[in-house]
Amino acid sequence: MHSQIPKLCSEKILAAHRRRAKTVPPETDAFRLVDGRGDELDGITIDAFAGSWLVQTRPGFPLPPFPPELGYRSVYRKLLSPEKRETPEHLAGERLTGPFLVRENGCKFWVDFQAGYSQGLFLDQRDNRSELRRRSNGRTVLNTFAYTCGFGVTAALGGALTVNLDLSRNFLDWGKRNYVANGIDPSPHDFIYGDAFDWLRRLNRRERRFDIVVLDPPTFSRDRHSHVFQLEHDYPSLIDLARGVLNRGGTLLCCANTHRLPAAHFQALLRSALPPSASLAPRRIPEDFPGSDYLKTFWAEL
Ligand SMILES: C[S@@+](CC[C@H](N)C(=O)[O-])C[C@H]1O[C@@H](n2cnc3c(N)ncnc32)[C@H](O)[C@@H]1O
Repeated sequence: MHSQIPKLCSEKILAAHRRRAKTVPPETDAFRLVDGRGDELDGITIDAFAGSWLVQTRPGFPLPPFPPELGYRSVYRKLLSPEKRETPEHLAGERLTGPFLVRENGCKFWVDFQAGYSQGLFLDQRDNRSELRRRSNGRTVLNTFAYTCGFGVTAALGGALTVNLDLSRNFLDWGKRNYVANGIDPSPHDFIYGDAFDWLRRLNRRERRFDIVVLDPPTFSRDRHSHVFQLEHDYPSLIDLARGVLNRGGTLLCCANTHRLPAAHFQALLRSALPPSASLAPRRIPEDFPGSDYLKTFWAEL
């Protein structure tokens, strides 16, 4: 009976792979291959990055075996533990020796399994990145909390002039390499190191204005004056700051990445901070996340 369990897991992974073949867009080799209970594998997610799999579980969760017949290049395990944010460990297949390129809707991104807790690309933002690209031609885009500049790259590919803001120089340098990987000269674009809250005030004082502002903050952040930002409470103050740098008729991409904030509550928070004339269009997490609803998105047109 027990020997059937690993076989069953392998079958479910293969079945999930077949389903993804129907939903993952062309020219894309970075996607969520298994999304927990959405693929009948409660407790496990697998992100596929150009054939290298990142298996994510809570500590202590028993892992199924990964026989080579599953067709991966390599398998790494990441423990989902906010206290111990460790680099993934190798489980099977090839050992990766450095960063490598993945593709999403034809756009290239550097991914690194040895760079710490995050690998360089949040796959759940794929549809928002492609929507931003679609809206970007001839626009100016401010990408706050930019991380490795995924939104900046797609906006630039869509024809925007971009400004990326992040608290990590390392991530911004990674972001520049992502621009270069796509044949974009980073020099006309900006990569600003610093606190997003401070910089939104500073850009406003300098009368800088943008057509689109991307807001995808972490759930918790502290600015350099030790003021705490907690997404569930402080989103309206972030909207106020972003509105200060938004052109008339501009667009805010508002994301909240947390289970703790239901979509209706997030929408009410946004409504409280936006003028009554603003329209709010919700967007679902991509189809390869059938077991998740943590990412909430609204495109706000002012
Ligand atoms: C959840 S990630 C953002 C993901 C990104 N929007 C994307 O789609 O790839 C959070 C990022 O916010 C940055 N960050 C956190 N607090 C910040 C702050 N106060 N000002 C600017 N960046 C901050 C972190 O360095 C990290 O890169």
